[in-house]
Amino acid sequence: MTGISTNAIHADQVLNRVTDVVPPINVTTTFRYPSNPNDIRPATDYQSDSYDPSSDTPIYSRLGHPNSTRVEKILSKLLDGEVIAYNSGLSAFFAAIMYFNPKTVAIGDGYHGCHGILNLLSRNYNVKIVNLDQLDQLKEGDLIHVETPENPYSIVHDIEYYVNKAKSIGAKVLVDATFAPPPLSNPFDFGVDMIMHSATKYFGGHSDLLAGCLITKDPKVKIQLATDRIFLGTNIANLESYLLLRSLRTYELRIKQQSESATKIVKYLVENKNNYPTLDKIHHSSLQTESFVLKQMKGGHSPVFSIELNEIEKAKSLPSKLKYFQHATSLGGVESLIEWRAVTDANARKTLLRVSVGIENVEDLISDLDQALRQ
Ligand SMILES: Cc1ncc(COP(=O)(O)O)c(C=O)c1O
Repeated sequence: MTGISTNAIHADQVLNRVTDVVPPINVTTTFRYPSNPNDIRPATDYQSDSYDPSSDTPIYSRLGHPNSTRVEKILSKLLDGEVIAYNSGLSAFFAAIMYFNPKTVAIGDGYHGCHGILNLLSRNYNVKIVNLDQLDQLKEGDLIHVETPENPYSIVHDIEYYVNKAKSIGAKVLVDATFAPPPLSNPFDFGVDMIMHSATKYFGGHSDLLAGCLITKDPKVKIQLATDRIFLGTNIANLESYLLLRSLRTYELRIKQQSESATKIVKYLVENKNNYPTLDKIHHSSLQTESFVLKQMKGGHSPVFSIELNEIEKAKSLPSKLKYFQHATSLGGVESLIEWRAVTDANARKTLLRVSVGIENVEDLISDLDQALRQ
């Protein structure tokens, strides 16, 4: 099988339209129809099961455009399925919910934005929201949404358990694998129905674009998602696609280093915890002992981990003592970030700090954390 970086750099070559080594940014929203009248098709031809508006001859950029098609081509190689790109991770989640159309959704803690979308659906359409330990309330056609590793603790959930439960009910499983994209994990190994990623994070990798994607094994589902996306108006934009393509070229180098560095930092903090009287807890999947964890995290652990300090004020002020970790939300970028999580997540414990490890020298990052935690 071709390697991740080879695909990230070359999988879109088949779509070259010009001789440029770096694909141009196509800013056009509309595309000329063929000059030969025999090649012009009426709209009724587009309503077939085999017409894919995301990748056939471009018509209008809300359906698909050369840069989004390239992004999807590369991501489909990296993510082991058919990929549809969106203008944010939350757009991808919303599109998945529209597709599955469940009456009840089981969801864990996870990213508060996904809960926000479900709350809207609950308010307007009475969609019922239950916890992951209330699966007995699910019926055929309902949905189990598993975020793993889960925000903000970067703790891994047993995907196989939820897939087996879903099968026994006739429900579907959607996994948000934003915290651990390939080669770290691949939820398809455990038979899930669909995967989502916020591509804003590791695929983008430079904190300068918003994007998301859904991955399915079924080409028919992909066509349905591409058709739905026309009317949701949530295709990834031209310039964002270009930035994402640029970022994907270096994706494998970044994710591997970020994962290795985070695991090393967590290990260091655990081994030296006695030096930091304010450090109360460290959360990361590398500290979990269940057998499913290593099975799922086959390529390494997430570059995100969390720590809890023993006092709220100390947690709030720790970011101001750090030199390299920027105090900001989000994750996945080349620069390390730390966030007093209570700023963006109303449910987060006020002693909690979420850390996203970038690609800086890991020894520099360790000494930065060391000096701040000693203060
Ligand atoms: C796990 C997870 N899923 C989804 C999202 C939403 O992605 P986006 O910000 O690209 O809409 C985020 C954003 O932080 C996230 O962390």
